[in-house]
Amino acid sequence: MHNDIDTILISTDEIQAGLIRTGKEITAYYGGDEFTAVGVLKGAVVFMADLVRNIDAHLEMAFVGASSYREGTTSGKLELNFFPHEGEIKGRRILLMDDILDTGRTMSALKAEFLERGAAEVKTCVFLDKPSRRAVDMEADFRCFEVDDLFVVGYGLDYAGRYRNLPFVGALKSAVYEAAASC
Ligand code: IMP
Ligand code: MG
Repeated sequence: MHNDIDTILISTDEIQAGLIRTGKEITAYYGGDEFTAVGVLKGAVVFMADLVRNIDAHLEMAFVGASSYREGTTSGKLELNFFPHEGEIKGRRILLMDDILDTGRTMSALKAEFLERGAAEVKTCVFLDKPSRRAVDMEADFRCFEVDDLFVVGYGLDYAGRYRNLPFVGALKSAVYEAAASC
């Protein structure tokens, strides 16, 4: 698997430093108040598991399964495959966590959905931010790293379901895409 990587863009050590920094920001923001961290499956799982261990606050963990319709629509409509039950949302302070903020459609639609379902507050936190790709008015409240407009994998981010378990963020060799295209 490691042989498929062309360049390492964010090393394991850099990720660790980013987690400590972001964890402190989140700890300071909540100031001892309790909240619920909600991870967007599947990409947020690796990031969330590490980040929550850098937050000094009482928190609960929940997950949401969501994918936004990407190609051929600008509606930002969200397909929910899995959602926390009402008791985990109503009146709660929610911190949504995702692997990457790209067009912003997923986070924007999820934020609206949680507010509609009665959350007291919805904040957002992403491992990576690709601001050059934004298609909707959405900024993350917390983010670890900004990246250029380049497809990246690792640390939760996948290509065709693979590479989520890489301990760093990297760019794939073009041969990987070429091999997939010829299948
Ligand atoms: P958004 O709704 O366009 O912000 O979509 C964000 C989702 O697109 C992420 O949760 C990822 O699943 C996927 N995505 C966007 N950019 C990348 C990338 O560079 N690598 C892997 N997945 C990506
Ligand atoms: Mg994803």
